[in-house]
Amino acid sequence: MNATEPHILTIFGASGDLTKRKLIPALFKLYQQKHLPEQFYILGIGRTENTDDNFRKKMAGWIDKQDEFPQQKQDFLKLLFYEPLDTGNPDAYIKQKNRLDELRAQSDIPENYIYYLATPPVLYEKVAQGLAIAGINKDEADKSWKRIIIEKPFGVDYESAKNLNKRLLCYFAEDQIYRIDHYLGKETVQNVLVTRFANGIFEPLWNRNYIHHVEITSAEDLGVEERGGYYDNAGALRDMVQNHLLQLVGLIAMEPPILAESTAIRNETMKVFQSLRPIKEEEVSKYVIRGQYTSCKVKGEKVPGYRDEEGVAKDSRTETYVALKFFIDNWRWSGIPFYIRSGKRLPTKVTEIVIHFKKSPHHIFSHQYEQMNTQNQLVIRVQPDEGLLIKFGMKEPGVGFKVKTANMDVHYSDFSKGRISEAYERLLLDCMQGDSTLYIRGDAVEEAWKFVQPILNAWKNQPDIPVYGYPAGTWGPEHADSLIEEPDLTWRYPCKNLSNDGEYCEL
Ligand code: BG6
Repeated sequence: MNATEPHILTIFGASGDLTKRKLIPALFKLYQQKHLPEQFYILGIGRTENTDDNFRKKMAGWIDKQDEFPQQKQDFLKLLFYEPLDTGNPDAYIKQKNRLDELRAQSDIPENYIYYLATPPVLYEKVAQGLAIAGINKDEADKSWKRIIIEKPFGVDYESAKNLNKRLLCYFAEDQIYRIDHYLGKETVQNVLVTRFANGIFEPLWNRNYIHHVEITSAEDLGVEERGGYYDNAGALRDMVQNHLLQLVGLIAMEPPILAESTAIRNETMKVFQSLRPIKEEEVSKYVIRGQYTSCKVKGEKVPGYRDEEGVAKDSRTETYVALKFFIDNWRWSGIPFYIRSGKRLPTKVTEIVIHFKKSPHHIFSHQYEQMNTQNQLVIRVQPDEGLLIKFGMKEPGVGFKVKTANMDVHYSDFSKGRISEAYERLLLDCMQGDSTLYIRGDAVEEAWKFVQPILNAWKNQPDIPVYGYPAGTWGPEHADSLIEEPDLTWRYPCKNLSNDGEYCEL
């Protein structure tokens, strides 16, 4: 692990949801585990007028659950400061520079700064520009560094992402820019690399000769909650697939990097994105299914349909579910279908990657019994109940050779000594240590947008492509089953539908 040098972390959007729900609790955990440097401060910046004391009081509420460590909590809160600033005005940032200078003087901290942009995306460029005008954007060789963390969404399409990259690069160098995707901070996602590249048994099978298809599911049982306004302009493809799910594809499909190191790993994921076979606009209905949840009873309680959620247009055609089939055109994966799906108001919250292996080539037991109907599967459970599951055939005890599917199941909780860290803890610490391995490079973000762009275009230009209504609490539109063309194959359903009385319909 690299050393964490003294620095000041500025959070833009300090009054926002992400700061209180994720960033401050993650920073407190890092503090408790003594990962933060001795000389360290957090400067919250927002448009709202506030004082250091009030900011501390507000944040205290979000780390309250840690009652067992009241002293630690008080000490941590002393590291927090607040500066109100008109973030939309690039000339106002001189105020921030002055405040940073003042804080540095208190603890003799060099000009090492991290800027976390937890703001609405419209401000990304303005903040970067403001920091440049105030002269606090450049590294000084061997003396100090500056890093900027950009939250998602990084653009809303290919053009805007490209443009945003271009604009940010006017003020910061690529190696100063940390584009966050919190999925890469999840322990089990990083474990994909370890499973593949620290073992000898998987990699020889990890290719078109032995793998039948790959399936990735990210399901959520909640609806859009209070984020209807944002979500209605985004939809599942932008919100989950372009970033989180394609990052998972990158790790699953990449060639072995020469080292577990930023450039090597990011070069390999980039190659995967470059090999994604584009889905042509005219083929979108064949390869992509979109859906939207409708009102239904879930566990005895009626939940609203998407169009009844606050902030959502009554005639919205935004997808809350998307499933797609695609191919990766390279030596390893030629001809192997990848299926990915993500949706809200599905029966449960689960993210998992399933590697479906091909059947054994010759069934020597089938003359006596029905051939076992399960193909070997490796299930990587990203969340919850993090772990790995291998499904394989075993002889049922007794006469003859009756084959049954058995599970070899490893739970991450049995494996880790304590709690599993939250994604933001890992990612913040990595940035503090200058390690960008789990952050996304500019070219990779653009490449991922390039892949989803024809789908967005088709939905815009061909409004008659159906949006299928699915009752809340079910596994999404039944049409998604037709993506998997083989008759005896379906998606893996980790649990059953929770609603039986809703209607599937075309919206
Ligand atoms: C966010 C999306 O990026 O990821 C949300 O904007 C989604 O809509 C969330 O709910 C899912 O993250 P996780 O870690 O709960 O799977």
